[in-house]
Amino acid sequence: MVPDVSSSTAGKMKSILAIAVSFASCGLAKTVNRTLTNGWGSTPAQRHYISADQAQIVIQAAIGNSSVPNNIAVLDPSSQLVAFLRMDNAYLGSIDISMKKAKTVTSFNGLFPSYGLLEQSQPGGDLWAIQETNGGLVVFGGGQPIIDADGYFIGAVGVSGGTVQQDIDTAVKAAESIGTTVSL
Ligand SMILES: *[C@@H]1O[C@H](CO)[C@@H](O)[C@H](O)[C@H]1NC(C)=O
Repeated sequence: MVPDVSSSTAGKMKSILAIAVSFASCGLAKTVNRTLTNGWGSTPAQRHYISADQAQIVIQAAIGNSSVPNNIAVLDPSSQLVAFLRMDNAYLGSIDISMKKAKTVTSFNGLFPSYGLLEQSQPGGDLWAIQETNGGLVVFGGGQPIIDADGYFIGAVGVSGGTVQQDIDTAVKAAESIGTTVSL
């Protein structure tokens, strides 16, 4: 399926821009349908959003694949919260981290997991201090894009509570409960 953005000149330009941005950022765009109109600014017919039911499945898979108490946040492609769960005894500081991990993914159209910005955001890197933008991003692991069966980017899950690797493992399993995800 192809995103419905090609019916107008503006749509075509947006579509081309989306592809250019995707390919400039990484080589994953060919397998994933991403459109700049999937979030804010889209018409309802253009949207491919995670449903509340799907978000519940993601949360349950995250719980089932947790080895520590986690905070689990599910956002739609416009970075808006669809579902959240704080497991008993999960760190309070990780509530915000879980949501911002997912927001880091949705802010760049699901092109990469949250750790995709890790290297370039270090002092001296091209994207140094990018984590200070947008009210705060989290550039380490635990935020994963969720891609549906048609290849659409429909949302993101953020997990926080364990080590970075534990968070990544749980978030990947959570995303895979309803689709696929992206790894680098
Ligand atoms: C762990 O994640 C997998 C993959 O998404 C899922 O099929 C499975 O049900 C999860 N495990 C539990 C115990 O929830």
